[in-house]
Parts: sequence; C-alpha cells; structure tokens
Amino acid sequence: MPAVGGIPTGPGKEYPGNLTPNVIVTCVVAAMGGLIFGYDLGISGGVTLMDPFLLKFFPKVYRSKHGDSSTNQYCQFNSQTLTMFTSSLYLAALLSSLVASTVTRKFGRKPSMLLGGMLFFAGALLNGFAQAVWMLIVGRILLGFGIGFANQSVPLYLSETAPYKYRGALNIGFQLSITVGILVANVLNYFFAKIHGGWGWRLSLGGAIVPAIILTVGSLFLPDTPNSLIERGNMEDAREKLKRIRGLENVDEEFNDLVMASELSKQVEHPWRNLLQRKYRPHMAVATLIPFFQQFTGINVITFYAPVLFKTIGFGDDASLMSSVITGLVNVIATLVSIYGVDKWGRRFLFLEGGAQMLICQIIVAACIGAKFGINGNPGELPNWYAIVVVLFICIYVAAFAWSWGPLGWLVPSEVFPLEIRSAAQSINVSVNMVFTFLVAQIFLNMLCHLKFGLFLFFAFFVVVMTIYIYYFLPETKNIPIEEMNQVWRSHWFWAKFMTEEFSNGNVEMLKGGQALKNV
Ligand code: BGC
Repeated sequence: MPAVGGIPTGPGKEYPGNLTPNVIVTCVVAAMGGLIFGYDLGISGGVTLMDPFLLKFFPKVYRSKHGDSSTNQYCQFNSQTLTMFTSSLYLAALLSSLVASTVTRKFGRKPSMLLGGMLFFAGALLNGFAQAVWMLIVGRILLGFGIGFANQSVPLYLSETAPYKYRGALNIGFQLSITVGILVANVLNYFFAKIHGGWGWRLSLGGAIVPAIILTVGSLFLPDTPNSLIERGNMEDAREKLKRIRGLENVDEEFNDLVMASELSKQVEHPWRNLLQRKYRPHMAVATLIPFFQQFTGINVITFYAPVLFKTIGFGDDASLMSSVITGLVNVIATLVSIYGVDKWGRRFLFLEGGAQMLICQIIVAACIGAKFGINGNPGELPNWYAIVVVLFICIYVAAFAWSWGPLGWLVPSEVFPLEIRSAAQSINVSVNMVFTFLVAQIFLNMLCHLKFGLFLFFAFFVVVMTIYIYYFLPETKNIPIEEMNQVWRSHWFWAKFMTEEFSNGNVEMLKGGQALKNV
C-alpha cells in the first residue's frame, strides 16, 4: 500500500538532492514491494480457474464447474475454502502490518524489508510445491505476513530516501507498480494455463519467488535510512548516509530538520488516544471512510476474481483469462492518467468523475448479466454482443477506479493527517483497507451466488454514497502544503465547527516544509 510514510506534496522547503544510484536502486527495490503485492492480488483468480489445480485441491468446485450447465451458474465457484485461499493473505497482512510498525521503528526499515522478502520467498515456495490445501493456505498466510512487513517498510524507506521533489510522483508510482504486478500475474496465468501436464499453476504461484529474491537481496545491499538511524541514536552514521544518498557534501539543513523532526515525534504522547479528540474528526473520517469506500467500489471482485467472474458469466477458460489480461492492462494505463492529472485537475474532480463513470458501468453490467442470466442463472446461448459489451464496460469501470479511488485512496489520507497523529492515523487507514479487502475477498463468491447480477447494484449503491461523501465532505487538497492543511478544514462548511484555534501546534509550524513530516 503506498504512502505509509506519507509523502507531502506541494511547495515548501526544498532540500538539494540528486537522483543518485542509491536512489535508483531504492526505487527498484521499492517497485519489487509493489510488484509482489500486485502479483499476489492478481494471481489467485486465474489459478482457481485452472482445472488441474481445482481437481487437486477443490474437487467439489471442479465438479460444479464442469457439471450440468443448466444448473445455476452464479454458484459454481461458491466454496468457503476456495475463498479462504484468496482471502487468508489479507488477514495475515493486517495482523503483521501492526507488528511491522514496531519492528520498523525499533530496528530500522531494512530488517523489515529483509523479513518481508524472506517471508515472500517462503510463501511462494510453499505454494509452488503445494501438495495439500493446508500448504496453499499457510503459503498465502506467509505471503500475507510478507506484505505486512514490506508494505509498511518499503514506502517509508522510499519516502525517506527519495529527494523531496520526486516524492509526489513516487507515491502514485508505488500504486503503479501494484497494477503492473496484477497485470504480470494475469499474463502469466494466461500462458501457464496452457502448459500440458497441468502443472502451470505451480509456476504461477511459485513465480512470486523472483521478485521475492530481488527484494531480499536488494534490501541486504541498501543502506538504512538516515531518519531511521537518527531515531535509533546513530547520529554520525546518519549524516554519512544522508551525504551518500543525496550525493552531496553539505546536507546540514536537511540533517538538522531530520533530527528536530525525530525529537518532535518522540514528544507525541498517546497518538492513539489523540485520535479520539473532537478536532481530529475530519481526519478520522478520512482514515476510516476512504479505505472502506475504496474497497466497496467492488474493484477487488475484478482484481481477485476477474477470470472466475468472466467464466461465470459465460466465457470459456481461455477467454476468461484473456479478458483479465485486458482489464489488467487498462488498470495500468489508467493509473498513468492519474499520475498525469492528479496535480492538474485535482483530487475531487478525479473522485467525482471516477465515481460517476463506475456507477454507469455497474448499472450496465448488471443489466447485461441480469438480461441473460436472470434469477435462475441459466443463460442458454450467449450472443457475441453480450461478451463485447460486458468486457467493454468492465474495462471502463476499471479505468475509472484506476484514475480515482485506486491511487487517491492512498494518496489523500497520506496528505491530510497532521504530524502529531500521522503514524497512528495511517495505521488505521491501512488496517481498515485490509479488513475490507479481506471481507470482499471472503464473501464475494457467496454474494455472487445469492445476489446474482444484483451484486453489481450492491456495489453501485456504495459508489453513490461515496460520491456524495466526496462532494460534500472532502475538501480539495491539490497543491496545498501539508502544514496548511488545517486551514482547509477550518474553512470547510461542515468540518469547520470541529476545528479549534489551538489546533495548529507551534512546533509543527516550525518545521514547515514537509521534511519533518515525513519522519513519523
Ligand atoms: C487497492 C487494492 C486493489 C488495487 C487494484 C489498490 O489501490 O488498495 O485493493 O486491488 O488498487 O489496482
């Protein structure tokens, strides 16, 4: 998940710094973190469509998939163990991201990344060689632990190492690498499914070993961040590292600010209890509602289960895997649109436009599926126009998500939390996201079985609610320096009454410029 470190955008104090080899290696390693996350998000749906995999681990699902096609198509994949295979990962990620925040703070970013890489490696190995369902699930849990550690530490490492002016782009860059991971998974599933002998699924699941090795080995070679060294009292070492990372001799200004920021963040007592104060209501709304809504766009129905979904609504195995490659590609390209437009058109515009676009697509897709499958899930012959319209509107829906709620679901929370609650609020954001990612993964196949085409209307309802929330309750944060964010809430028609004068803390003002803010 991007932006755990928080990446302030907008004008402020500028520290000198070059794109040194160190920074570039960091980006590669960070990209591996995003890539593995995306790969794990995208791989399970295609694998669960491969017959040899189903036959070996989920014979009941296999039988219902190949059973009489006059039976209810909506329910052919409805199996709790099958969803457990997908969703266990997010539960593990949720638990470990809570532990990871302590490890990352006490021992540095590096050990967390190393641990993340090793857990990924072990999980991918176990999955690739799985002989029984338990090996699959334990493997997914290990991958989940890996995600918890890597996603907590990689973005932090990234935001602490990258020169200030590149941070905004890197924030969405992390989301981009997630979408690339999803796409790679979809493409590999498409090809591996064709392998004769039926062991292609082993390559799909085991494939995560490659980025896991790069992340593990890469993190061995990366230096610890100056911020983390300062936090642990190694001042001289920290100054040397900063010089090396920036490629400059004189890094005094940035170094001093880092030290001050570290002092300040140590003074913040009870960050969790602070969150309950009235003046933080608007922030808490962001920290809980944004991740909740992001998941209730229904995007992960596509990310996790696109092949299964396409199969359910009448496509062949091959066409289903191919269609998910297409949606994966749309996802990547539309994320680039967001990178381009986020500081030009603003967050609200993207949120509102994306919401409207998703809504229209969901209604059309529901209507198409409803028209053909009705209530009893028995479609008869499916005409060509049907396949084209469904894939087209699912792609337009994915594009809408990918330039709105996808990246902004991570970017916006990272820029609205003030220093004194940033770390805690960000943990809430991440945890809420994981809880609902888990929930959607766990209940989707069951919901499809019961709500049928109405499933799309269920998510459409939430898209309406979230769009109303954005319209009335989320102020624009484009080009607003983090330290001036309070002003935005103070002048908001609804949130103003929660904001008190003593809110703006003198210390925070002192550290204008964002360098300090990224340290928490
Ligand atoms: C979401 C994931 C989702 C991905 C899809 C991310 O922003 O948090 O849940 O699978 O986007 O691209």
